[in-house]
Order: sequence, then structure tokens, then C-alpha cells
Amino acid sequence: QVIITACGSSRYAALVGRYLFSNVGKKFCDVVMASEFGYFVDSVDKGTLVIAVSQSGETADVIEGVKAAKAAGAEIISIVNRPNSILADLSHHVISLNCGPEVGVAATKTFLSQLAIFYLLSFSMINSFNKARIQLSNMSSKITEALNCNNDGLIKLSHKLKDKSSFYYIARGMNFAIASEGALKLKEISYIHAEGMPAGELKHGTLALIEQDTPVVVICPADYTYSETLSNAIEAKSRGAYIIAVSDKESDIYDFWIRIPKVDELLYPMVTVVPLQLLAYYLAVSRG
Ligand code: F6R
Repeated sequence: QVIITACGSSRYAALVGRYLFSNVGKKFCDVVMASEFGYFVDSVDKGTLVIAVSQSGETADVIEGVKAAKAAGAEIISIVNRPNSILADLSHHVISLNCGPEVGVAATKTFLSQLAIFYLLSFSMINSFNKARIQLSNMSSKITEALNCNNDGLIKLSHKLKDKSSFYYIARGMNFAIASEGALKLKEISYIHAEGMPAGELKHGTLALIEQDTPVVVICPADYTYSETLSNAIEAKSRGAYIIAVSDKESDIYDFWIRIPKVDELLYPMVTVVPLQLLAYYLAVSRG
């Protein structure tokens, strides 16, 4: 069995990895949040591979979980940005993010690098590392495009929405992890309540909280999740939601469209997350 453990943004990158492992490598694995991992250590043994993901390599819950899993005989691979860290020291194998230090509290560039590593790992499972590497080398220009074409619009949007008390972020499949990450960034730097969730879960409670003009960020690239996610956006809109869509495909139901370039469908997380980081940033600036 393969278990990925991490906290915060690193855990959301791991969730993208989980979908990639299944989709590309045909391998099921679980992602366990590090603060809960200790409660599952009874099912860890020497047949277990633990992948620990941590930007800093110093997060206490990750370290504790890894120590317990190692004591139970598991093999440990870590994905870290700081090679001289406690986590790296504890690991049998270390994959380095090589990003340089994250200057602010919010993980941004390391999140992208974690996505890149999971993409490379999943393609390595089918002996296609080089194919994945070539695909990734085209992504810088796509990410720049996603930033440049949205910058001015996101500044205006942040002025409009800065006094809202709650945001909801919805998506399906691997994009669901980006909904969670978008919401985390917003909470962390602009102190606005935000929730990210799989779009299909909206109807199990959260829909009741959507009122006239509640912002709902819908991550709906033109991939295998598009039409089902759009149906969920329509449900939210019928309750009065203000729909902010992150997509490369237009629709009448959007109130605000964050345009992203078309990319390979397994790489959409890289171009959808960056405008959401920028939205959180401009909302924080607008709120002073
Ligand atoms: C989010 C953020 C935190 C970290 C979390 C884990 O922007 O910075 O949620 O992702 O504290 O930190 P690392 O990855 O260093 O273990």
C-alpha cells in the first residue's frame, strides 16, 4: 500500500498526485492528513510506502507520522523543498523541489513544484518520465499567459468582492484539490471564510448557505469534469450565487470569467491554481 501524508497546501498537491497515480499509473493510494496519520499507524507495516510531502520538511505532524511509520517498518520517500531538514534526514529517499525559499507564509511556487513532481512520478510509473518532462517544459509560458490575461480583471474583482464574508470553491476530479487550495489561500492571507469542496458534495448541506451574490468559484476547465461541474454551478446560481469560473471554455452562466489557456487535461491544476493565488492576493490588498 502507498500512503501520502502532508498538511495544508502540501496535502492539496498530494491530492492531485493521488488522482494522477490512479489515472496514469493505475495505482490506488490514500492521502492522510498528517495530524491524523498517527491514528492509522496500526495498518502500516514493512510492505507500506509512505510519501511525505512538506515544503519546509519541519512540520511537526508530518515528522511525528513519519517517525511512527518508519518504526513500523515502512519505507519513506519525502518530497521537500529544504534538503537540510528533519524530514529529509528521516527519509530513505528524498525528492527535492529545488524552488529556493518561500518568502511569504503562503506556499505558492512550491505548490507548483509539488504538482510537477507528482506529474513526473506518475508518468515514471509507466516508464514515460521523458514524455512528462517535455510536457512540463511547455508549462511556464502557459502559466505566464494565465497570469497576464487575468491580472487587471482580478484587481477589479477584488474591489467588488472585498467585503464578502464567505466564498465557496467547487470542482470535480483532480480539480477538486485546486478548489481546496484556492480556499486555503483566501483564508490564509485575506482572512475571509472560504470552503473548497468537490462540486458533487454541494447539495449535501452547503447549498443551503448560498444566498444572493454569494461568491462561488467554479474550477471547470474543458476536461472530463466540465459538464458535471457546470451543472453544479447552475444549481448554485439558481440560489443566487455570483459565479466566478476558472475555465478555458465560455458559458452564459458565468458572472466573471477567469480565462486559462488550454493545456493537456492532466496539467490543468497548474494553470487554474495561479489565478486563484492572485485573486487571494488582490483580495488581501483590497482589504488592506
Ligand atoms: C499554505 C501553507 C500551509 C502549509 C502547511 C504545511 O499556504 O503555507 O498550509 O502548506 O503548514 O507546511 P509544509 O509544507 O512546510 O509541511
